[in-house]
Amino acid sequence: RRPRASHRSVGRFSPLPVCPASLIGTTVAELLAYLVLLNCARKAARRVRGGAGAAGVVPRLRVVRCMAASEAAQLKSAREDIKEILKTTYCHPILVRLGWHDSGTYDKNIEEWPQRGGADGSLRFDPELSHGANAGLTNALKLIQPIKDKYPGITYADLFQLASATAIEEAGGPKLPMKYGRVDITAPEQCPPEGRLPDAGPRLPAEHLREVFYRMGLDDKEIVALSGAHTLGRSRPDRSGWGKPETKYTKDGPGEPGGQSWTAEWLKFDNSYFKVDSLSFMLCRT
Ligand code: HEM
Repeated sequence: RRPRASHRSVGRFSPLPVCPASLIGTTVAELLAYLVLLNCARKAARRVRGGAGAAGVVPRLRVVRCMAASEAAQLKSAREDIKEILKTTYCHPILVRLGWHDSGTYDKNIEEWPQRGGADGSLRFDPELSHGANAGLTNALKLIQPIKDKYPGITYADLFQLASATAIEEAGGPKLPMKYGRVDITAPEQCPPEGRLPDAGPRLPAEHLREVFYRMGLDDKEIVALSGAHTLGRSRPDRSGWGKPETKYTKDGPGEPGGQSWTAEWLKFDNSYFKVDSLSFMLCRT
């Protein structure tokens, strides 16, 4: 099982689950820590017994708040910093692509972590950044690195997903019920091999997409839904090699000008990608 550092929900930033049922998936160490603290809480409850009937509940809530509180606070602050970057650089699309490419190496058929890939911060290392599918993502890392330096209590893996979810929300998309606690790989040798992400121009697009996304445990409906992320952003000939150098929608930015977007309002998260009427442009044919 892939290790998980803790369980924090983005929306409320609650550091640990209160309900024992939600402990499924925790590591042994976490479980032990939880039990030790629960025991302390019970002792504290006994000390204050004689007070209100809530005495058995209050210390337990206190324990929950203590665990990894600083990290939860860091996640909250980092989210605000990401919002600032979005306001000034309009980098929503590339942050979504960063989160997707870190996670899209996942192989459900491999038991061992980190060999199975997935959102593990591996995309910060050069062998993976240099994979053909990741062309241009070094620009996303440059934006994110100062935030990582400022908040050492957040893993790259979590930060990439936080950046992606924040970008979607700030582009007008839904508020995503995220969980945090992803663990980073520690060395470039642990990066997944090249070839786990989808190709843009395969000979048999439907077969290729099924092969890649089924490996992640996703079905046809989920492939279509996920591809809708291209409602944001552009293709750039100088990065992926796809798209035009510029169009009337991209020649003046916002942000760095150029590239070819799939949709007219390429900084707005909506359903317009599914209404694009061009069978000739990449992905639409899939
Ligand atoms: C279905 C298979 C997919 C293929 C073949 C594909 C391929 C591509 C390519 C070639 C680009 C252009 C990159 C550039 O030139 O800078 C791109 C951009 C993008 N992709 Fe995908 N992608 C796929 C799925 C996804 C998924 C599942 C997501 C997210 C959930 C996603 C999110 C994005 C975003 C947001 C951009 C815009 C990046 C920017 O403007 O900087 N893609 N994709």
